[in-house]
Amino acid sequence: MNKLKHLAIIMDGNGRWAQKNGFPRTDGHKKGASVVHEIVTHCRKIGIKALTLYAFSEENWGRPKEEISILMELLLEFMVKERVTMLDNGIHFNPIGTLEKLPDFLKNTLFDLEKETSINAVMELNIALSYSGRQDILNAIKNIISQNNFDTYSITEDFFSQKLSTFNSGDVDLLIRTGGDFRISNFLLWESAYAELFFEQKLWPEFTADDLDRIINNFSQRDRRFGLIKII
Ligand code: FPP
Repeated sequence: MNKLKHLAIIMDGNGRWAQKNGFPRTDGHKKGASVVHEIVTHCRKIGIKALTLYAFSEENWGRPKEEISILMELLLEFMVKERVTMLDNGIHFNPIGTLEKLPDFLKNTLFDLEKETSINAVMELNIALSYSGRQDILNAIKNIISQNNFDTYSITEDFFSQKLSTFNSGDVDLLIRTGGDFRISNFLLWESAYAELFFEQKLWPEFTADDLDRIINNFSQRDRRFGLIKII
């Protein structure tokens, strides 16, 4: 049975869910935010060590202003509401991405909560905001080059992983995308090299803890070979 340490989720389908139910797109995000609460709580309960959620991509800045501002407000609300739960349950809140681009009201709360929860080590909760997997890799390269006298032989895969924003979480074991599309959209490109992929038809606002259990059950039975062969 495969051990699931790092779970990553592309939470897609909020807009389509809203459209399907005759609501404005922003209502899809509101419903999506309540699902985030359910899934984070469930992951903590079942002992997942790291959960990375794609909440806002670098490309999402191109969306209408009012949609962006609702998303920012929902993120703030999430942090305010979940603060005590994170503190009480050993969850380290770790925002990743080009955070400088975020509005000040959000940045301050993000950084404060990260600091406040930084001693927590039961579960790492990475929230990807203004995130781009390629950019994260470029940042790691720039970081390495900026160190004087670096020795090229010391740049191993493990060393490089430590320079990424997910350095506390390690490689992704399972990557789920809801909403029926089959792509990874610039998410955790390095970390997902050997991730098991699961493309779920359900839209994110319809996703439940039971769906997650079903997918984890499927994951646990997969034959993960990491490029090796089985010796029978
Ligand atoms: C993709 O759906 C989803 C997003 C761009 C935002 C995800 C945000 C949330 C789930 C809520 C806020 C997050 C937190 C952590 C509280 P889409 O809008 O692209 O849907 P569509 O493909 O159906 O249009």
